[in-house]
Amino acid sequence: MPLLIRGGRLITATDDYAADIYCAGETITRLEPGIDPKSLPPGTEIVDATGRFVFPGFIDPHVHIYLPFMGTFAADDYASASRAALVGGTTTLIEMICPGPADEPWEAFELWRAKAHGLAAVDYTFHMSVVRFEERVRDQFRKIVAAGVPSFKVFLAYKGALNLTDEHLFAAMKVAQELGVIVTAHCENADAIDALQKALLAAGQTGPEWHGPSRPPVVEADGVHHLCTFADLLGTHVYTVHTSCDEAVRAALAARYRGVNVWIESVIPHLVLDETYAERPDFEGAKYVMSPPLRAKRNQEVLWNGVKSRAISTIGTDHAPFSFRGQKDMGKEGFTRIPNGIPSIQERVDLVHTYGVAQERLTLNAMVDACSTQAARLFGLYPKKGAIRIGSDADLVVYDPAYRGTFSKAESHSNVDYNAYDGWERLGRASVVTVRGAIQARDGKFVGTIGRGQFLAREPTH
Ligand code: URP
Ligand code: ZN
Ligand code: ZN
Repeated sequence: MPLLIRGGRLITATDDYAADIYCAGETITRLEPGIDPKSLPPGTEIVDATGRFVFPGFIDPHVHIYLPFMGTFAADDYASASRAALVGGTTTLIEMICPGPADEPWEAFELWRAKAHGLAAVDYTFHMSVVRFEERVRDQFRKIVAAGVPSFKVFLAYKGALNLTDEHLFAAMKVAQELGVIVTAHCENADAIDALQKALLAAGQTGPEWHGPSRPPVVEADGVHHLCTFADLLGTHVYTVHTSCDEAVRAALAARYRGVNVWIESVIPHLVLDETYAERPDFEGAKYVMSPPLRAKRNQEVLWNGVKSRAISTIGTDHAPFSFRGQKDMGKEGFTRIPNGIPSIQERVDLVHTYGVAQERLTLNAMVDACSTQAARLFGLYPKKGAIRIGSDADLVVYDPAYRGTFSKAESHSNVDYNAYDGWERLGRASVVTVRGAIQARDGKFVGTIGRGQFLAREPTH
């Protein structure tokens, strides 16, 4: 059904102006002030956006939905994750494909696609993890890139599970450079963490509050430096995911000043939560165990300022949903067994609006840039996604900045049994969310169609 969004204030990464948007089919076809509804076909749906912002659909460049990890599986599927994403204003997800070291990459790609197909209500694409890169599997990665996934993920952390040897890292980054593929990377020194974890456990320091001390900032900065050294040698374009602290940001910026093509991602938990959450008593801290860990509060200002100055390109979530009961509590005897992750897919945009824009840490334009446009540009989706332009997909968020409420588990669509932001003040809410012209969410409720989401095949852009 054709759609007219009238009377809104359009906010993009660069512009802020009043106009109406008309969408015929799945794309934006008119963008002008005062479109006369009488000039439109009968049956056109009209959304009144008076007093509201209209944003391009938000893109989350780092989520985990199907994730076998640390002896369990992430709690969401594409239906629950889509509902959560959409009511929170996110219309496109980029999920990490994370196979185990013994799995065949192409089979993993097909498995992850099958998990999304038929259940996604958002549009989606993937970053392909490289957990080993011997000669035998290299052609499979070329095939995956040709099939529309021109971005790799590497883990410098998780010794014995997801991390890859330097020999394989170097080889993978070389092929990535040849193919124009960007390498996204979890940067923490796996061996240093392993040694620190063993020492802490041997000293009886087993609670969730010891997760942070087992992976201090210098361990992350070392990982960033290491990745950037290889990028420097090879010319590969790299992107540091969930960059959490001053030391790591500085390592990336130092490499950028040396000429390395490195982009920086922050994620919402690091912007608004600090290390004291993981220190909460009675094992409550386990809800806040993620990697890299929550940091000292002073790092939050570094990250917000990085986004504001656009030194940091994106704000994602690293949504990795594990319930407190039955999953996080697998680590009761030792923090190294607590599944890592803080689910945030639904809350990200409202948290950025409440604690970034409303507190004058970010402009609305910077919010759109970090939560939508930069991800589209970096990962080959722009201007189909991340923009309000004629010809762009009609992925739009009509946003009510005057809404007042609180974050709560009761309103959460993710399949986990807790909300990390429970009871927090919330300023703003998506009133209407469209994906390719169809309304998928209204005022916190999912009203869309499960299975409507499409796989976004991308071209290499680096
Ligand atoms: O704690 C995290 N980040 N869990 C998900 C896996 C990863 O490292 O991205
Ligand atoms: Zn990670
Ligand atoms: Zn992740």
